[in-house]
Amino acid sequence: MQILGIESSCDETAAAVVEDGVRVRSSVVASQLDTHGRYGGVVPELASREHLRAIVPVVREALERADTTLGALSAIAVTEGPGLVGSLLVGITYAKALAFAGRRPLIGVNHIEGHIHAVVLEAKQSGEPVEFPALALVVSGGHTHLFAVPADYRYRLLGRTRDDAAGEAYDKVAKLLGYGYPGGPIVDRLAPLGNPRAIRFTLAKMKGNPTDFSFSGLKTAVLRWTEERDIAAEVAARRDLLRITPSPSLEQWLAVTPQTTLDLLASFQQTVIDELMRRIERCAEEIDARNVIVSGGVACNAGLRAAARRSAVGAPILFPTPGLSTDNAAMIAAAAYRKFEAGDFADHQLAARANLSLA
Ligand code: KG4
Ligand code: ZN
Repeated sequence: MQILGIESSCDETAAAVVEDGVRVRSSVVASQLDTHGRYGGVVPELASREHLRAIVPVVREALERADTTLGALSAIAVTEGPGLVGSLLVGITYAKALAFAGRRPLIGVNHIEGHIHAVVLEAKQSGEPVEFPALALVVSGGHTHLFAVPADYRYRLLGRTRDDAAGEAYDKVAKLLGYGYPGGPIVDRLAPLGNPRAIRFTLAKMKGNPTDFSFSGLKTAVLRWTEERDIAAEVAARRDLLRITPSPSLEQWLAVTPQTTLDLLASFQQTVIDELMRRIERCAEEIDARNVIVSGGVACNAGLRAAARRSAVGAPILFPTPGLSTDNAAMIAAAAYRKFEAGDFADHQLAARANLSLA
């Protein structure tokens, strides 16, 4: 039983074939980093254009690498939202065309559910499936959501960001400091070289739901910190470095990053990790979680993974391997497996839903 998954919600065009909801036969991801990097963030119009360019070869490669054909597929799954509407449309339109031409059933998948299924998939592969109820934290450039996940996958939203997503905070801080886009990976590499206790960022108390998140105050606090110091020269040096070397080495970055800035990055990252871990600890206890799932681009963060290993949460905390943490289509095909079994199919009216929610 093979499902082809297609993902195009943001700036990655991806296709994958997953067998029986557990074996990844192929997973192809075409990143648009080269296109958006110079603008310091994703440009929606450019993203749609790049998806149009990539979708046909990416799907073809996924089928080839899986050594399969359209006719051998049991279904075609595609991300229906949330995401950029023009980007989603490219994947959805192509998935519909394939489903129609190959007379295969079509399945619409929520991108956030996909991130959760990246972990469900790998847990199944390891022979130790996820245990329920689980707590899921989806933490990426677009989302910071906490869900209770019971065995029937009727998700319950426990908390979400009221402003910026955690990954967005990484990206904005990195852009402000001249590190380019995306910010997460480079901040993650530099943060261990700074003192995480050098600057104490105090975050606003959450009125209402205490398990909601807010990251825009932290971003503003970093901005204030930079405004109180003269860092224009070092920021310019980093922007110059990026112009000559699109992906600088750690040594090259260190040559244009003084210790005070390393301390700033370490303190920023520590604050984000503390915020995430505090909510995880609280909610895991509240719902008596037997497993905790952390997924999405920020789940790649080495500091967060280390904090999870040290944490006092009673339940095991599961992260996907880095390739399945960021956007990919294997997670979409994996999430579609349950829908296939339940006969939950879409038709030709499947539409792009930019703000689709999971619970
Ligand atoms: O899941 P993803 O690929 O796309 C979205 O659905 O948003 O996540 C991308 C986000 C970006 O904001 C990026 O800066 C962040 O994940 N990210 C990281 C790391 N790697 C990627 N954030 C922190 N540490 C990392 N190692
Ligand atoms: Zn994502």
